[in-house]
Amino acid sequence: MRITRKAWLGFILVFVYGAFVGSTVFAGDGASPAKSINAKPVEASRGDTLTREDARMAYLVYNLLDENKKIKGANLKRGAELFYMNCRACHGDDGRRVNFTPMKSPTYLGTTALNDMPTFWYLMNFGDGGRGMLAYIDEISLEEMIDIAGFAQTLPP
Ligand code: HEC
Repeated sequence: MRITRKAWLGFILVFVYGAFVGSTVFAGDGASPAKSINAKPVEASRGDTLTREDARMAYLVYNLLDENKKIKGANLKRGAELFYMNCRACHGDDGRRVNFTPMKSPTYLGTTALNDMPTFWYLMNFGDGGRGMLAYIDEISLEEMIDIAGFAQTLPP
């Protein structure tokens, strides 16, 4: 049997179409929906619209807080060591050297860590020049910050 040019063309068309359908159906790595939500846009692409502050705060909200607003996955022992090294000098052993609300009922580091982790996280990362708190985003790694934040939630409120 002779295969005509038309038949060849038909085979090729079917093959190309099949490859196209296959690639759209099986594209991706089977990532779970949760995974794709956390996927970051390519840096400096048009989808990359978050400021550094936005990205850090979103990371806290989407990846670190459990339903009780506790930090997930912190290594508390390492957090304690890092806290004593970096924060104790000003905030004291138990985070109670500085009272942030002297005019009202006292707020200490443990109070903020437990009741208002976003404020804690923001201040640790970006500081507050007006109040004399330093920014640590370029000094302490993200993993270490997670440990410090987790440990701070064990300080007396
Ligand atoms: C050089 C001193 C110094 C060091 C070191 C320091 N802080 Fe602070 N921190 C301050 C001062 C001063 C304030 C503002 C106090 C005020 O407003 O009364 C502050 C405020 C804060 C607040 C704000 C809390 C609130 O409720 O508003 C957080 C959170 C905080 N620091 C976390 C940390 C952590 C975590 C570390 C260690 C990684 C650290 N600080 C290290 C001086 C320091």
